[in-house]
Amino acid sequence: MTHADTPSLVIAVDGTSGSGKSSTSRGVAERLGLRYLDTGAMFRALTWWLLREGVDVRDEAAVAAVAHRPAIESGTDPLAPTITVDGEDVSVAIRGEDVTAAVSPVSVVPEVRARLLALQREVIGDGGIVVEGRDIGSVVWPQAEVKVYLSADPDARAQRRTAEQGGTDVASTQQSLLERDRIDSGRATAPLTVAEGAVHVDSTHLTLAEVIDRIVGLASEAGRA
Ligand code: DC
Repeated sequence: MTHADTPSLVIAVDGTSGSGKSSTSRGVAERLGLRYLDTGAMFRALTWWLLREGVDVRDEAAVAAVAHRPAIESGTDPLAPTITVDGEDVSVAIRGEDVTAAVSPVSVVPEVRARLLALQREVIGDGGIVVEGRDIGSVVWPQAEVKVYLSADPDARAQRRTAEQGGTDVASTQQSLLERDRIDSGRATAPLTVAEGAVHVDSTHLTLAEVIDRIVGLASEAGRA
């Protein structure tokens, strides 16, 4: 199956930080010949820009006032996803600790969510895409043909994330993941939640290939793969 055969297919992958959403979503997109959108990267890109501009990210009004300014563009090739801010490639910079620490407070601001929601819907367009985030199945694209809520035990998530980053301090990684979960799940606008119709996949004891197979299977059950 290719994107051209099923232009409207949208697979929404939501879940907690470090549950394996990115590797899984990219793998599914690759298997099914779909595009891929990492909405977390968009929140990170805006946060990177705010930090660079010297905006106080804890000041909601200040963030809201400028959230519309930077041009954020996402490239949707699952083999080489890209993200730019005003034309500058920020794919590496947005993974820095400063951005990671500031992104959850920025993403509670309603003006930030409204701006990025419009951009996300524009990229999804006619579909043919796997979209990962926190509110894709609930708010961004509730009509998605396949909705997945991906989770994993905090221990497993912290270990994976620490290994990815080449670090050793699993305890502090876990603390930072749990803090982001707390803010992401507790915010008033579009909190992280299991969307209506979503299938909950716990990846704690599954390999990446098994999780990908599971989601490809769901697309197949939906008659789309
Ligand atoms: O997936 P990630 O860790 O790169 O996401 C970074 C942050 O962006 C996350 O802590 C919350 C926010 N986010 C969001 O609020 N809504 C989304 N759809 C995606 C991410």
